[in-house]
Amino acid sequence: MSSSLTNEAIYVASRPTGIPTAENFRKGTHSVPEVNSGEMLVRNEWLSVEPAMRGWLADANNYSSVEVGEVMRSLCVGTVIESKAEGFNEGDRVMGWLGWQHYAMVKPRAIVQKITSTDIQPSLYLGVLGLNGATAITALKTIGAPKTGETVVVSTAAGGVGSCVGQLAKSMGCRTVGLTSTPEKVKACYEEFGYDHVINYKTDDIDAALKAACPEGVDVYFDNTAGNISDSVMQHLAIGARVIVCGTASIAKWDPVPMGPRVERILLTRRARMQGFIMFDHMDTYVSYISKLEELVRANTLTYREHVTQGLETAMGAIAELYRGENLGKRLVRL
Ligand SMILES: NC(=O)c1ccc[n+]([C@@H]2O[C@H](COP(=O)([O-])OP(=O)(O)OC[C@H]3O[C@@H](n4cnc5c(N)ncnc54)[C@H](OP(=O)(O)O)[C@@H]3O)[C@@H](O)[C@H]2O)c1
Repeated sequence: MSSSLTNEAIYVASRPTGIPTAENFRKGTHSVPEVNSGEMLVRNEWLSVEPAMRGWLADANNYSSVEVGEVMRSLCVGTVIESKAEGFNEGDRVMGWLGWQHYAMVKPRAIVQKITSTDIQPSLYLGVLGLNGATAITALKTIGAPKTGETVVVSTAAGGVGSCVGQLAKSMGCRTVGLTSTPEKVKACYEEFGYDHVINYKTDDIDAALKAACPEGVDVYFDNTAGNISDSVMQHLAIGARVIVCGTASIAKWDPVPMGPRVERILLTRRARMQGFIMFDHMDTYVSYISKLEELVRANTLTYREHVTQGLETAMGAIAELYRGENLGKRLVRL
């Protein structure tokens, strides 16, 4: 059956020098080969777009990379349409490394999770029940370890990861303070994600706003941006603060990395800890954390936003859109 199918895919055409744009990709077609023993053919339904893709595409040192000429690496949700792989059958819905394409021929190791729930929309397994949610809960619990009554500050507060962090911290009895960039996102942070205070870092005086919102200082800073936002938050750390370095969205150039204030005096005097986090180091706990988040979604106590465009080619410019802050919620492409 598979040999009669034509696949459309987005390939990496060149390495970006900064933020990847549509010009760094090209669309191509090829016929789908026969399914070999140990393989399965998946028809993709949802593709993910991640800020981290910038790092995967960069020439600079990174924890993961994708080569020029390859189909763009991506987590996707799809349905198995033919299988010669043990444990997978036609009709199984899966989330895994399937790439920006309509059909993916993969081995079981590409699959992160089989989706067995029938009462939850499958796209959520790329967002609040996917890498975003898993990152939020794992990094918050393992590094942030917030205690009741503490103040948790979150950058990219309205985004896929940030909106989940804000709600989880609130459910742990913390005061939550979010930073984001537009009035629409500020509104969503208050009304949908339950933040106690929201700062528009483009229009507010960040330092004065942090001082007012965090009179006892910042106990946990969930940092998705680095840059100016973090430079300000660091000044407000409380004694014993924990800083989770989860993303560096505001650093436009990595080579050379721009110099910021020296933070060692702050870390020393506040006895604070700052730690980098990569979700892929924690995949052993992925499924168990996702099932906890599933319960919260089912109970309507964890909410989310999705920003969806239709059609494979819309993925090509979508990374740049993330870096212009044009998304409100998890950025997805629907096929
Ligand atoms: N370490 C890990 O394992 C891991 C896993 C997943 C995600 N992450 C990181 O988590 C962060 C959020 O990811 P996400 O998927 O949830 O994306 P997202 O927050 O839904 O979208 C990216 C957001 O980044 C913000 N942004 C873009 N350029 C910026 C700039 N120059 N300065 C400040 N903010 C900027 C924008 O939000 P505003 O409009 O609010 O500025 C934009 O909407 C990213 O940094 C990502 O790399 C890390």
